[in-house]
Amino acid sequence: MTRVLSVASECAPLVKTGGLADVVGALPAALAAFGDDVRTLIPGYRAVMGGLEKPKPVVEFDDLFGGAARVLAAKNAGLNLFVLDAPHLFDRAGSPYLGDDGSDWPDNPERFAALSFAAAHIATEGIGRWQPDVVHGHDWQAGFIPEYLHAMSGDDSRIPFVFTIHNIAFHGNSSADRLAALRLSDWRFTAEHFEFWGQISALKAGLTGADKITTVSKTYAEELMTPEFGMGMDGVLRARAADVTGIVNGIDKDVWDPTSDPQIKPFKTAKGKRANKTALRKEFGLSEADGPLCVLISRLTYQKGIDLVLEALPSLLSRGGQLALLGSGDTELEVALLERAANEENLAVNIGYDEGLAHRMMAGGDAVLVPSRFEPCGLTQLYGLRYGTVPLVALTGGLSDTVINASPAALAQGVATGVQFSPVTAGALAHAFTRICDLYQMPDTWAMLQKNAMKQPVGWETSAAEYSALYASLSKG
Ligand code: ADP
Ligand code: GLC
Repeated sequence: MTRVLSVASECAPLVKTGGLADVVGALPAALAAFGDDVRTLIPGYRAVMGGLEKPKPVVEFDDLFGGAARVLAAKNAGLNLFVLDAPHLFDRAGSPYLGDDGSDWPDNPERFAALSFAAAHIATEGIGRWQPDVVHGHDWQAGFIPEYLHAMSGDDSRIPFVFTIHNIAFHGNSSADRLAALRLSDWRFTAEHFEFWGQISALKAGLTGADKITTVSKTYAEELMTPEFGMGMDGVLRARAADVTGIVNGIDKDVWDPTSDPQIKPFKTAKGKRANKTALRKEFGLSEADGPLCVLISRLTYQKGIDLVLEALPSLLSRGGQLALLGSGDTELEVALLERAANEENLAVNIGYDEGLAHRMMAGGDAVLVPSRFEPCGLTQLYGLRYGTVPLVALTGGLSDTVINASPAALAQGVATGVQFSPVTAGALAHAFTRICDLYQMPDTWAMLQKNAMKQPVGWETSAAEYSALYASLSKG
């Protein structure tokens, strides 16, 4: 039994912009099955403060990075939370990271340094009789934790720190003149610790200071060590290779359960998808068609390869396929998608963020498209598997590890679950669209893909066991 303080900038269902929230929200219950006691520290954004059950102040700070703050112990959706109530940092309208104009809040480094500082404080001092054996930080927003732990208790006695990389593209950098404002030690502003090309990097602080580093799939753990995927941190990671492991994400099988999902017409076998498909077409204003109905649910960014979809689309549409897309993100991509949809009968685009619609798309779609240039794990292909929605994915990161490509050999052995394409180019995606359309026209083969997909173990059991063992290996308690 390990006591774990998990620290993150998002946690479903309270606050979510992407898969990080799903993972942080689902892992504690999965770990409880192994006897681990996880409490999760998150920022008290406005939306979070409104959703807490039984909030109770447990720590007070007179001045936490520019204002008074406190930590509340609270519950939500079965999670044991610590919430950093710091109105000067988090009581704002809009997204956790961005102001109304769509750019980062200028004080993001301080906002998440405060989160990390509070985490180190809780870890060092404990809350009542509860003190963690291990601190588990997620992404750059938790990166300074080992720095503060070091400052508060020195290297020898400090609580072990596990750092998980969900996406190495975000470094949480700030200029060197913010050292004091971020309460960091000048003498540690070196390449060994958190100096990165003259800047302060929260991500690097986490990578150099962690006892163990994990990322969210085995393939991404290898990719991260290469210049192509490392985003400048590949050298730092290679130096720590002995402490890096990949633990693939699972999904919350209660939240994503086709037999009981309140958003859909529930089904036990893929045949039950038909009624959902009809409803989904109606919801998106799509007519009947002969080819597969593909769905795509995503942040609209370069990472996600949305531009490739626009280029390769004729190969899907010319074979009677359709695409229903839900997403929000880069304005250029949003505009390009809407313009294209206005001219294509079989492309329907919904710009926005809609959790319920995401469920209905998984239930009604024939195939789920994930054409990412890089993808640490990816969750939508896992939802697809669970809902018998055949994944059509790029061969990268977690998408490599979670889908079994319908190669002739895999089809012959009856083990395929989806289609993978490589390299991640519009040409290869266009070819993959023709493959998925061909497979869809072979009813027995398609039924086998759906059946195999629905049998995949996409829950947290195995991966939670790996985290639990990792915590136990570090815990001194
Ligand atoms: P990432 O974290 O890189 O965005 P993941 O595939 O790990 O990618 O997780 C994305 C999560 O966000 C999934 O739960 C997905 O369903 C959800 N999501 C993304 N965009 C939307 C949207 N526009 N509406 C509803 N859910 C979305
Ligand atoms: C990140 C990655 C995604 C991963 C998610 C949860 O946002 O982009 O691939 O599934 O984190 O770990």
